Amino acid sequence: MNTTALHRPAALAQPRTLERLVRGQATSDGAGVRLTRVLTHDLQRRLDPFLLLDAFASDDADDYIAGFPDHPHRGFETVTYMLEGRMRHRDSAGHEGLLSAGAVQWMTAGRGVVHSEMPEQQDGRMEGFQLWLNLPARSKMSEPWYRDIRPQEIPEWHGEGVTARVIAGRTHGVAGAMQREGTEPLYLDLHLAPGAVFEQPLAASHNALVYVYRGAVAIGEAPVPTRHMGILAAAPASDGVRVAAGAEGARALLIAGRPLGEPIAQHGPFVMNTRDEILQAVEDYRSGRLG
Ligand code: CO
Repeated sequence: MNTTALHRPAALAQPRTLERLVRGQATSDGAGVRLTRVLTHDLQRRLDPFLLLDAFASDDADDYIAGFPDHPHRGFETVTYMLEGRMRHRDSAGHEGLLSAGAVQWMTAGRGVVHSEMPEQQDGRMEGFQLWLNLPARSKMSEPWYRDIRPQEIPEWHGEGVTARVIAGRTHGVAGAMQREGTEPLYLDLHLAPGAVFEQPLAASHNALVYVYRGAVAIGEAPVPTRHMGILAAAPASDGVRVAAGAEGARALLIAGRPLGEPIAQHGPFVMNTRDEILQAVEDYRSGRLG
């Protein structure tokens, strides 16, 4: 492929720069699912309104087969994006669904759900991501809600050497499968041919990250290798981000949102604004009033 043909005149006047490269931490969660915690607790303030990003990818069933049996959530939203494999979810409100490759589950825990997320396969590859998106204080005790988004319901934008799957927000005139007021999340899955360049306008006040899961990209001159997150720095005049694929092409998540600027109090699967609200969540769960 002639990579120079993929370069187009720059539309952004002042793209963001790479502030920091994050490797993520190997950990396990649920009943012993091995995963990489990319967005860790110490980055919640910096990447407000995002609270957590986990990446899981394995060909070994031992790494995922135990799944995530019944557990509670309160005060935020979970966005699960499957690349490979199948995961079944059930919750305390009687909802059930099957996430297959390319699908998204968007769940608003609100005042509380108890749910399970279990692999529906005995072998083969399981790969995907779970993102936690905070809720504003006024919405933390809202009614629980969820939507299973089938692969064909996720709009795509196609540019030169670029396919963007638009999970949330908007790119190049294409509205994503989900829109959210308040945090205005942008969630793109970018498939970039070798040398391809993708540009996305972003409000300078929004926090943004890129997570590379195949190949490598550059933000300005700074490389972001595979299985790394780049935190994107914004100057007051920053107008967006330019993501350039390396010689092997790349696949990457581009995630951005408007910070809430509210206190964050977390205890495991509960994310509220104050310690008292956390104690209440624990008490409600213990007494069966959460699900
Ligand atoms: Co969960």
